[in-house]
Amino acid sequence: MSLHGLSSLTFGVPNIPEVTTYYEDFGLDVTRTDADGGTHLATADGGEQLHIAHADRRRLLAMTVAAEDHDDLDHIASNLARMELPVDRSENLLTTRDPGTDVVVNVEVSPHIVMTPSEPVAYNGPGRPVRLNQRAPGIERINRVRPRKLGHVVLGSTDQPSSQKFFTEGLGFRISDVVKGEAAFMRCSTDHHNVLVQAAPITLLHHTSWQVDDVDEIGRGAMSMLEEDPDRHVWGLGRHHIGSNFFWYLKDPAGNFSEYYSDMDCVVDDELWQPGVWEGIKSLFSWGPKPPDYFFHPEDLAGHMAGAHVGHP
Ligand SMILES: [Fe+2]
Repeated sequence: MSLHGLSSLTFGVPNIPEVTTYYEDFGLDVTRTDADGGTHLATADGGEQLHIAHADRRRLLAMTVAAEDHDDLDHIASNLARMELPVDRSENLLTTRDPGTDVVVNVEVSPHIVMTPSEPVAYNGPGRPVRLNQRAPGIERINRVRPRKLGHVVLGSTDQPSSQKFFTEGLGFRISDVVKGEAAFMRCSTDHHNVLVQAAPITLLHHTSWQVDDVDEIGRGAMSMLEEDPDRHVWGLGRHHIGSNFFWYLKDPAGNFSEYYSDMDCVVDDELWQPGVWEGIKSLFSWGPKPPDYFFHPEDLAGHMAGAHVGHP
């Protein structure tokens, strides 16, 4: 695969300071501030992966995807030109835009993120006691939870089939799983999914997802967030069916959902992974609480649709 990861995202929000504080509480570190007040935040292993900039309504302004070399950019540029999509090319960077999600996509030649291996955790099982004479490490951690890297972004597209084609045939993402008539889980790395595009009545940033070491870190991180503000809770703890990851979703002050995740499926051999075509709520999660209605229909959606109508009659 010529692409090797999701490098960074640029959020547009109307309330930069509040949203920045939220992501600091979430475990990211502010690295620098723009002259216009925008902020840049880093994960533990991925470096600067979130840029928070100003916009009238919450939205994803841009994403950056990592490519191996210049040949990959040449190849992607010719794909996009064939699809009659805009391409702006410099030596190490290609910039384009997906009309369906209204997101600017940068493809940049960049090094792989080096992940520090997590400590192996021994779980005692029936007939398989492996952690002997020791308490579980998850109960003894007192450090602040820090996401290791950005995992994926979920976007609403007003033209899902064309957005799916943009990411797959244009940029070279692979399809890991599909929800029939609704969404495609796509990867540009060995993670099961890095971008999920779903059909929506308006372009929308649904959620971003950030990898933590294990399920204990999901619980510790989420509980710490809820101690600050219980209204941040959205949905969790649970385990997704598609992608298999444990999850807990929270909500930032602009209305974007952010997910802590661990133990996602990892695809290292495209030939050995069988994409599935899924239907129904069961495909969303194997276990967990019932998701709230606003997970599917964010509460600010109607207002955004009205605004979009005024702006683009
Ligand atoms: Fe997710």
